[in-house]
Amino acid sequence: MKFELDVFRQITDALLADEKKNPVVPPISPDQILSILDLELSQQGITDEEFVNALQELILKSPRTTTSGFFNQLFGGRNARATLGDLLAVVMNNAMHTYKVSGPMVEVEKVMVRHICSLLNYDATACGGTIASGGSLTNLMAMLMARDKKIKSAKFEGVTQKMIAYTSEESHYSISKNAAILGIGRDQVRYIETNDKGEMLASALDKAIQNDIDQGFNPFFVNATAGTTVMGAFDPIDEIAEVSQKYNLWLHVDGAYCGSVILSKNYSFLVKGHEKTDSFSLNAHKMLGTPLTSSFILVKDKKDLYYSLDNDANYLFQMNEDEYNLGKVSLQCGRRNDGLKVWTLWKSVGHEGIQQIVDHQFHLAKLGRDYVKNHPDYTLYSNENTLSICFNYKDIPAQDICKALYEDAALMVGYGSFKGTTFVRLISINYGNSDEQILNFFKKLESFVEEKYLIEMT
Ligand SMILES: Cc1ncc(COP(=O)(O)O)c(C=O)c1O
Repeated sequence: MKFELDVFRQITDALLADEKKNPVVPPISPDQILSILDLELSQQGITDEEFVNALQELILKSPRTTTSGFFNQLFGGRNARATLGDLLAVVMNNAMHTYKVSGPMVEVEKVMVRHICSLLNYDATACGGTIASGGSLTNLMAMLMARDKKIKSAKFEGVTQKMIAYTSEESHYSISKNAAILGIGRDQVRYIETNDKGEMLASALDKAIQNDIDQGFNPFFVNATAGTTVMGAFDPIDEIAEVSQKYNLWLHVDGAYCGSVILSKNYSFLVKGHEKTDSFSLNAHKMLGTPLTSSFILVKDKKDLYYSLDNDANYLFQMNEDEYNLGKVSLQCGRRNDGLKVWTLWKSVGHEGIQQIVDHQFHLAKLGRDYVKNHPDYTLYSNENTLSICFNYKDIPAQDICKALYEDAALMVGYGSFKGTTFVRLISINYGNSDEQILNFFKKLESFVEEKYLIEMT
């Protein structure tokens, strides 16, 4: 391993130095990759020197998601403590399916699950949860539990009737994909209307459910989103819970983007009503800034998790109680240790440090929104208390400016659409950013438009 550790150090040092000078790397078009980088495999292998060169070139020419030039996705930045945890997880290579193979790493996951459950006000004697690789999968687990709760036989016999799921028209695409995976069917997902902020209308949800019942269908699942993918809106969980309870439906909160507000006393009001939910998910690799991926699923009653996911396998589960064999509640068999990186961060900074992370992101978002509001060349589309700063500049089509910024290696930022308007969507999720770095985004955008974009257009 010594050679590889030396190479790791060399390449990481080169990357960190280059990131400072070039927060965004020039993109390589797919048809040019093989002429620029040495990626083809050979019969005989290559020398160590050739290997290090090929690897370093690959690393230095790949997109940078951790720098102050990256605002493109719902993740960003690099937390050193969390990165350390993830590196060690790779070196150790535990599989989280059994206590025998992962030992104390099980408790690492459990302490965090217990803490989040306590903030959700779930009953400590009944609740549970685990980590999966991504919000799409924690949403899948929630929908699976809801399906099995409604029709106990579905996991044996399959789905034989029209079971209906409800989510807002602004929700993430994983809801419909998961409906297909679970045999519910994409056509059985109802997209509920939202208000002008992108928040689900509970009255429209009530009507849709009643309509399906009148037609003899079987509603089973309601998804509320804490941080919609484009606008960053928070559905009104309190009101949605009332409707879900009226019809006895499972209520899940997809908090992949912004469910981590539960970890801040200052922002947990955005998920008011959380104690009335059946399950709640949040991605540590989004708001907590850990490396990809780590998504928590918390459940009010862990029996539901076991009912849907437990499977006998005497070649695997040979020791310890189910409670400590996490494979009993996971979608996979072998599962990566995605808890350690969250724990190394959390253990270091404590609950207060975690709260500061969340609060700083909202501070940066407000700074960005205020900048846009106060500059007449901009139009603002986003609302208070969201991490998505949505705007247009000088009426330039958002798709065009995002593409030009990317091709020029100036900034990485994407666009989104809401109720027929398309805009630039700047995400303030990288809490490593300072006020200055957010304001720099706008300065860079403005100088790029004046010095390059408008000139090229004329
Ligand atoms: C609201 C929401 N839910 C779920 C997901 C999916 O999360 P993941 O990318 O971890 O699968 C996303 C991703 O951006 C999201 O915004």
